[in-house]
Amino acid sequence: MLAQRILSVERSPFYSIMDLAAKRSDCLYLHLGEPDFDTPPHIVQACQKALAGGSTHYTPDRGIPELRRLIAKKIQTESHVGYSFEDEILITAGGQAALHTAIMGTVNPGDEVVLLSPYYPPYLANVLLAGGVPIVVPMKSEEDFTPNLEIIERHITKKTKALVLHSPNNPTGSVYGKGALSQLVDLAVRRNFFIISDEVYEKYIYGDQVHWSLVSFPNAKERVILVNSFSKTYAMTGWRVGYIAAPRETLLQFLKYHHTVNICANSAAQEACVAALEGPQGCIQEMVEEYDQRRQFLMKGLNGIPGIRCIPPRGAFYIFADIRELKMASLDFTKYLVEEAGVVTANGSGFGTDGFIRLSYAAPMDQLREAWRRMQLFLERA
Ligand SMILES: Cc1ncc(COP(=O)(O)O)c(C=O)c1O
Repeated sequence: MLAQRILSVERSPFYSIMDLAAKRSDCLYLHLGEPDFDTPPHIVQACQKALAGGSTHYTPDRGIPELRRLIAKKIQTESHVGYSFEDEILITAGGQAALHTAIMGTVNPGDEVVLLSPYYPPYLANVLLAGGVPIVVPMKSEEDFTPNLEIIERHITKKTKALVLHSPNNPTGSVYGKGALSQLVDLAVRRNFFIISDEVYEKYIYGDQVHWSLVSFPNAKERVILVNSFSKTYAMTGWRVGYIAAPRETLLQFLKYHHTVNICANSAAQEACVAALEGPQGCIQEMVEEYDQRRQFLMKGLNGIPGIRCIPPRGAFYIFADIRELKMASLDFTKYLVEEAGVVTANGSGFGTDGFIRLSYAAPMDQLREAWRRMQLFLERA
């Protein structure tokens, strides 16, 4: 018999959608959670140079000092809070490993962890792996899927160890306001729990929205564990580099876990991330502008289809479309969409919120146009 901790995690039903998609040769894939751009060439070249120069060994387990120094500088410049590069930054194998380390490093069996739904599914899996008790607090579509402080506070108990938060949100694209975030920090300080703040989509922000890092609020540093990554910002999903910023004592404990699982993050990829932070930042804006156009196209198009409604996403690269009028479970609807229209999307129930589907616009415009055309045809027929 295998361990209960692994048996407690379910394999996502989304794989059944992928199995259906594999039966068609003409599918359009709008379920992807990664930029469709390649990593900018100057970053790739830095890695090639690093490999040729012998960057093929273990690095310090915390990560290379140059990269940690640049990350500490970035946080200082953008969020006006000091983290020592020497012992308050940990380079991990992507944001995913950072999240896992942060949750395994804080949650004891029986501890309650608040997840705001819709959530990124690995939050739930990590809490279960840690033996924690997930307390899922739904955010409402009428409130643009943003945190409601009153409702959250009602779910805080003596057993609450942490709350996992991400803005911009995957799958909704919601960006949380300064007021709500600062009140959440106050709540965490007052009620003594950690906030694990996953900010991997921080640069994917549209219009006049602003990203507020949780660590930028007064007194946040002691309560907030910051998780971030190079994956989305620099289109580096395959490189697997992310990081944690946390106070010295916390980070020292996390380091033991990280060392046990990974020893260190990929050495040449860390060098590439130095180039990413030191090099020109225009590549980010170029991607965001392109995504903004796609976002506007898809939003308008989907809102024109009977039975589908979408709240304008303000960040990330997803639309969380409301299909409640169609009176179908989201998993069934996503299956139908694959079978009848060859359009692959993700079921909202996988993110803890049924009645919605997630469409990713990290796909070229011609594919988005064709997907919209097929969805329109399919729903007019239905
Ligand atoms: C909200 C969120 N956090 C973290 C991650 C993990 O990203 P990575 O491990 O590539 O940094 C993802 C990936 O899709 C995500 O959507």
